[in-house]
Amino acid sequence: MRKKIVAGNWKMNTNLQDGIYLASSINNKLLAETGIDEIGVVIAPPFTHLIAISKVINNDRICLTAQNCATESKGAYTGEVSAEMLKSVGVKAVIIGHSERREYYKECSEVLNKKVKQVLANDMKTIFCCGEKLDQRKAENHFEVIKNQLEEVVFKLSENEFDKIIIAYEPIWAIGTGVTASSDQAQEMHAYIRKLIAENFNNTIAENTTILYGGSCKPSNSVELFAKADVDGGLIGGASLKANDFLEIIKSY
Ligand code: PGA
Repeated sequence: MRKKIVAGNWKMNTNLQDGIYLASSINNKLLAETGIDEIGVVIAPPFTHLIAISKVINNDRICLTAQNCATESKGAYTGEVSAEMLKSVGVKAVIIGHSERREYYKECSEVLNKKVKQVLANDMKTIFCCGEKLDQRKAENHFEVIKNQLEEVVFKLSENEFDKIIIAYEPIWAIGTGVTASSDQAQEMHAYIRKLIAENFNNTIAENTTILYGGSCKPSNSVELFAKADVDGGLIGGASLKANDFLEIIKSY
């Protein structure tokens, strides 16, 4: 059966000292809890914090994740960080296709394809994000938008490759806005994504794929969201920066 996961996307927040403190707090609180061992916990701090944080967390319990990686494997790409570099510091997964990278850094599907290939080549997991803008939802194009985003990248992979993909559905109008998709809206889209996976691959793969919801997920709404059949956890931004809130969200299962 597919894994339930709660992932924290720290984005460009915390300096190193605050980041180490946050990661240690999450780690200590998590290890003190009982009964939530089956929930996968992911944290994605900024690049600069990864090595130090890998030393203060239980890496068997918390999956250290990066927020991005380069399209190329090595060479003259000033300022880039390769998937192999991330792997070498203990990173186990990479977030690819976040709407902020699509929007602000103009990452198109061609770029995302290359990044996913780099992550897979280094035997790490990909958290692949998809999501529609508000005007696309208002125009009732949201299903089409999500289908295209998946078809252009992760549905091009082989079955074995897709096995390493976690999908995160993040409606852009809900990210950082305080407006959450209703649990019914989330369920509707998650069920649709699972149906697409079944059509593109098969039912077993669809049933085994973890599909996370992201967008203003917080302790006050995570219980209702996670209760939905096709919502397998969350990709949490703002609320992952407070250890107590993040733990509350994990415990909502
Ligand atoms: P948010 O961000 O929880 O702050 O809305 C979610 C995300 O962008 O992953």
